[in-house]
Amino acid sequence: MNNIKIVRANLSDVPKIQKLLKNEIEKGVILYRSDDEIAMNIRSYLIAKDENNCDEIIGCVALHIYSMGLAEFRSMMVNQKYRMQGVGSLLIAKGIEDAKNLGLKEILVLTYKSYFFSKFGFREIPKIEIPDNKIWADCIKCSQFPVCEEVALIKKI
Ligand SMILES: CC(C)(COP(=O)(O)OP(=O)(O)OC[C@H]1O[C@@H](n2cnc3c(N)ncnc32)[C@H](O)[C@@H]1OP(=O)(O)O)[C@@H](O)C(=O)NCCC(=O)NCCS
Repeated sequence: MNNIKIVRANLSDVPKIQKLLKNEIEKGVILYRSDDEIAMNIRSYLIAKDENNCDEIIGCVALHIYSMGLAEFRSMMVNQKYRMQGVGSLLIAKGIEDAKNLGLKEILVLTYKSYFFSKFGFREIPKIEIPDNKIWADCIKCSQFPVCEEVALIKKI
């Protein structure tokens, strides 16, 4: 695991982020975002790199801010070959550290993988508590909307 580094993305990473996310987007697990939407929000993206294979991005997560207190983890994914080796945990730990440094109070996540996030202190909330701007900006674009099986979890930080 010493060869895995979590770093901030830059604009040259956008095509690599799209390549990484493609499979899970096709399965409907992750929402498609255009290159321009990723570029506009590039400062929120953390990426994982394997120092033995620097050309590829092996994982990513975006900490998207909604308000003075609330952000959301979105576009979280680790390349299949690298799963169950702690890469996802490194990304979440760095994202939580960023959220604390920014002065955020809560992080939301909508996921099918609640066991993964519960390890970091995320607790399930009723979907009625999801902020309206999330529903109308993102959920409305999703193929699963409005019958969504994802679980909403929140962590106070
Ligand atoms: C969810 C995901 C990012 C986890 O990444 P990862 O690098 O495999 O996670 P880690 O190796 O850090 O695992 C952290 C913990 O979760 C557990 N875990 C991770 N994936 C698991 C799985 N599929 N089944 C059971 N446990 C799992 C690990 O056992 C580990 O527990 P431990 O610390 O007790 O050993 C990865 O499975 C993924 O990309 N999934 C597809 C996309 C997705 O569902 N994203 C989330 C959308 S919000």
